[in-house]
Amino acid sequence: MYTLPGQFEFLSDAWIDEARDWFAKRREGLGAPFSVSERFADAPPHLGLPDNVGSWTLRWDGETASVARGFDASADVTCEGDYQAALMAAQWVGMLVPGATEALFREMTTVFGKDAIRMRGEVPEAAVELMGHFHDHMGRHTVENPDLEHRARRLGVTRHIREMEDQGYTVIEKAISDDFADEVRAATLRSLAEHQSVSLQWMTYQGREFERLVQNPQLMTLIDASLGRGAVIASISAIKRGPGKGFIPMHTDYSHVPEPYPEFSLTGVGVWALEDWTVESGPTWIVPGSHKHRRPPREGEGHNQGVPIEMPKGSVVYFHHGVWHWQGDRTEPGTRVTIHNHFNRGILRSLEPKKVDARMLHRNPPRLGEMLGEDDWFDKMSGQGRDHVRFAHMAQLLRFNAEKKRMIMGEAEPAAGRDLAALVAEY
Ligand SMILES: [Fe+2]
Repeated sequence: MYTLPGQFEFLSDAWIDEARDWFAKRREGLGAPFSVSERFADAPPHLGLPDNVGSWTLRWDGETASVARGFDASADVTCEGDYQAALMAAQWVGMLVPGATEALFREMTTVFGKDAIRMRGEVPEAAVELMGHFHDHMGRHTVENPDLEHRARRLGVTRHIREMEDQGYTVIEKAISDDFADEVRAATLRSLAEHQSVSLQWMTYQGREFERLVQNPQLMTLIDASLGRGAVIASISAIKRGPGKGFIPMHTDYSHVPEPYPEFSLTGVGVWALEDWTVESGPTWIVPGSHKHRRPPREGEGHNQGVPIEMPKGSVVYFHHGVWHWQGDRTEPGTRVTIHNHFNRGILRSLEPKKVDARMLHRNPPRLGEMLGEDDWFDKMSGQGRDHVRFAHMAQLLRFNAEKKRMIMGEAEPAAGRDLAALVAEY
């Protein structure tokens, strides 16, 4: 398994054991007897589930709650569908917040379509609160699918990964719902107004909307593919701009990186469109393929080769690898509001200092901790020495991720990696 201690892959043996332990400690709050059973197809093969189908059943008989593998179609509540869609739901923390279920299904449907998950029956009223706590408990320990190739395929972004390597950028259209885009836009304007500014950093700390946006599974899959697992937040920024000339000229995002730029990507930015982007609205312009120069543009170079990024509200453009880009002129009235998710490869420093807030980690899945540098060994050395557990975990995750990236790119299977124990023994 590809987890740190205390983390679980969805529907792995460790996940089932944790669910069993959680219910074993609880006798109150479940009310009259009921049962819940779930079954999800097309789980990643490394889990070793029969036919790649993951299933489990909870039975509460009024005195004992039992948790077991296997699906029971006659359970009071059943839930079936696609594993990756269910995993998106399984990582959602905050189920008892009013409107949470609707918001979760709205975003899941945006990515996977309306038939990805089918539910039948309802948890009895008396047990809703406890089941919500259970879902949250599991969510804060459930990791994203580490199989990059499988995950990209299920999330529909395999093509985008190939394109971002070829062109230096790609667009995922409608990665979030229109409603969520509106919520993020309103929250951004509220934060900017509070700070009396047209731009702001550290947006992850400006509200729940941003915590969710920063974990968007499709964008994070591009980031895993370009920067490797353990990529960290460099900055999450908001920009509001009105009509007029763009105020960010042609540049690359590689500050102080010597030429030639490395063959692998160091940094990437996902810019969220919170309104429709057209040439008139002043979008980002990118010079396709310019990352292959492996250097910044020279004076006056590249402007006639740029393309405007036009995309509907709720879409995200991801560019990386030192591709050349600039902010376009806005010729129409109104304001453009954007959130910029800037990530660095995990071995690099960030722009924003990381503020690891225990409460923030508690209301999110491990995905958020990973991007705040919680899952690697950097900055963890103590008087007792290095954090070998995190070192081994990240080394394993990086290797699996890289192997699957090569598969996506249609490259030959890599030679077997070095034995992890030998790698750890070196330190
Ligand atoms: Fe930039």
